[in-house]
Amino acid sequence: MTGLSKEILIPRSEISRRVQELADQISRECAGEEILAIGVLKGAFIFMSDLVRAMAVPCQTDFIRAASYGAGSESSGNVVITKDLELAVEGRNILIVEDIVDTGLTLQHIVDHIKRRNPKSIKVCAFLDKRKRRKVPFEADYVGFSMDDGFVVGYGLDFNEQYRFLPDVYVIRTDVD
Ligand code: PRP
Repeated sequence: MTGLSKEILIPRSEISRRVQELADQISRECAGEEILAIGVLKGAFIFMSDLVRAMAVPCQTDFIRAASYGAGSESSGNVVITKDLELAVEGRNILIVEDIVDTGLTLQHIVDHIKRRNPKSIKVCAFLDKRKRRKVPFEADYVGFSMDDGFVVGYGLDFNEQYRFLPDVYVIRTDVD
């Protein structure tokens, strides 16, 4: 029989320590500026809420959602915006907040989409970075944790819409009896 099991990869204590470090770095580098934080739904909703509360700079928030259509669970490159921003971007300091960068296709598309609206600046903060899986050369400005391959859930990340609510990050394993 084949089943799934999960094992803690990043405990909540480590997550909150790292989120505070990221927030401190962003606050230092953006001191005196106002930020528009843009969360990429759905996965970023928990990271975004922790990050903006830990930052010491004034911040407005908005959300965007993208879908990538194609075979399998991997991004196909055909990325479509399915929920657009509600606030204006022009002339503003944008901080895109994402749960994970994998192939890089989603963020590349979202960054291009936002750049066309003439922001003053644009930075990307990703909670997790699976750098080895890139299909396009995308670099986030701030990264929580870099990881190798492995399917992770919790802290906003899902498996078939399950496990987003878990406070720790787990890696899912397929067990064969
Ligand atoms: C995940 C994740 C990123 C994207 C990363 O979103 O949240 O947005 O995939 O993959 P990429 O770098 O290969 O493009 P998903 O489509 O699973 O939606 P979700 O956030 O609603 O879970």
